[in-house]
Amino acid sequence: MGKKLIIANWKMNLTVNEASLYVHKLDKLAGKLKHTEVVLAPTMLALQPLNMQVQHHHFNLAAQNFYWRDRGAYTGEVSAAQLRGVVRYGIVGHSERRHIFAERSKDIRSKVQAAVRNNIVPVLCIGETAQERADKETSDVIRDQLVGGLANITSVEVGQIVIAYEPVWSIGTGKFASPRDVERAVKYIRLQVEHLFGKVASEKVRVLYGGSVNPDNAVTYLRIPGVDGLLIGESSLDVYAFANVIKKCETTFSTSAKKGK
Ligand code: PGA
Repeated sequence: MGKKLIIANWKMNLTVNEASLYVHKLDKLAGKLKHTEVVLAPTMLALQPLNMQVQHHHFNLAAQNFYWRDRGAYTGEVSAAQLRGVVRYGIVGHSERRHIFAERSKDIRSKVQAAVRNNIVPVLCIGETAQERADKETSDVIRDQLVGGLANITSVEVGQIVIAYEPVWSIGTGKFASPRDVERAVKYIRLQVEHLFGKVASEKVRVLYGGSVNPDNAVTYLRIPGVDGLLIGESSLDVYAFANVIKKCETTFSTSAKKGK
């Protein structure tokens, strides 16, 4: 079994100093990690200074966003080419980018491709809104967002990326998706990846769950078959809560490893 991947998405929170202090504390609280890969997605400003700091602590960094062209006259943008070597992961298509900043399928697939081209693992976020869920369109939305997001990359590349299933109605709302619904969605994601890119890609691709994850429900989501990790917003802002999630992940999976599960 591979390590569980736990990503903290701090969104537009924490200053560079606060972020640095957080990393220092997290290292002390989390201890040595065997079963968990921890990734932090701070403000773009903190990526460079934190890069040196996290290397000592074996955490990885993710960009919350980037532009898909490598260079040029794009005032205010940062490219995946500029982030190359600074981050291991790049979040793409987060629902806040889709809904607040009007990112379209076309932008999202170009970003996925730009990440891959620049040696950054894209974390493609997909998920249905409350209205789409009420209209029983969850599967259609998942399929459309996968087809739209992955159109520019090969099956070998798909096997190396991360997909985060994040029902939009659950993000930052405290409304929990039921484990049954998450299991069903994750299964459907792998099935679609298999249809589009083959069995190897569908088995290799890592699928995360995100949406109101906290220290109390994290293990429930982590235990769902097919779930390789978590993408956490709100609860990751509190270093104690985030460290708690990591510690719970470590204990859960060290026990499973001992039992040979
Ligand atoms: P949340 O956010 O944990 O605050 O629901 C998740 C996300 O936006 O990725």
